[in-house]
Amino acid sequence: MKKNSVTTISRQKIEGSKIAMLTAYDFSTARLMDEAGVEILLVGDSLGMTMLGHKDTLPVTMEDMISATAAVSRGTENALVVADMPFMSYQSSVYDAVINAGRLMKEGMAGSVKLEGGVDFAPHIKAITEASIPVMAHIGLTPQSVNALGGFKVQGKDEESGIRLIEDALAVEKAGAFSVVLECVPAGLAALVTKMLKIPTIGIGAGADTDGQVLVYHDMLGLYGRKSPKFSKCFVDVGAQMKSGVSGYIEATKTGSFPAKEHCFSIEEDLLERLRDYADKKGEDKTG
Ligand code: KIV
Repeated sequence: MKKNSVTTISRQKIEGSKIAMLTAYDFSTARLMDEAGVEILLVGDSLGMTMLGHKDTLPVTMEDMISATAAVSRGTENALVVADMPFMSYQSSVYDAVINAGRLMKEGMAGSVKLEGGVDFAPHIKAITEASIPVMAHIGLTPQSVNALGGFKVQGKDEESGIRLIEDALAVEKAGAFSVVLECVPAGLAALVTKMLKIPTIGIGAGADTDGQVLVYHDMLGLYGRKSPKFSKCFVDVGAQMKSGVSGYIEATKTGSFPAKEHCFSIEEDLLERLRDYADKKGEDKTG
């Protein structure tokens, strides 16, 4: 299987080969996805919701992201690992952006970082890439700005916000991003932006004409236990399979059918006999 890097990902756009990206937040899941052949593993700050139970991504810390990114990196051989920069790890200043991107690379062993924002964050993207850290940009619906956007809404639906999306896309490309996520954007507009840019676009809720797709794996495997967003698809209901496995375990434990003989360690009968004698003697000493 090929080792993916920012260079191989960029080449996929030129060759017209679609890019498959999924979120991952831990070692075991990363290993399964890597073995299945996913090209980019995104350690998304969506872990705040899917793994930590927050209502949005705002409480996620650098420590949360470093720990998850390091685990995913340890489980990955071929995929490019992209680590999300959490809320307020780069918005505060260009200096903070470079320092925190560096931590995700050094401590998390990521291959790239991702940050949300367009024109306003071009200086941050430029400074990080100048420090030799590849940046994936993220425009359209940017969940860290949920309070400023007034909710999780489709972006680029009128002329003003459509033009803003185009300007954001051009700005992040010019600043040096090697690719860009387009989240919750009308399909036609995402196709237009994809045509305009030399760097690959990765869509989530952005139609079929982007250069690649990304999904939160909890949505595509039925693990989040809530209605999936309109743009997502449940490919296998692993959540239902997990529940059925857990019910089976509970039942087997209660009925005593688990553990069976093949799950137990044996002991020689004469040794057990001597231990019984010893235990009996101890019992007599205690009562006598
Ligand atoms: O955090 C995340 O999972 C993301 C994807 C939705 C692109 O940013």
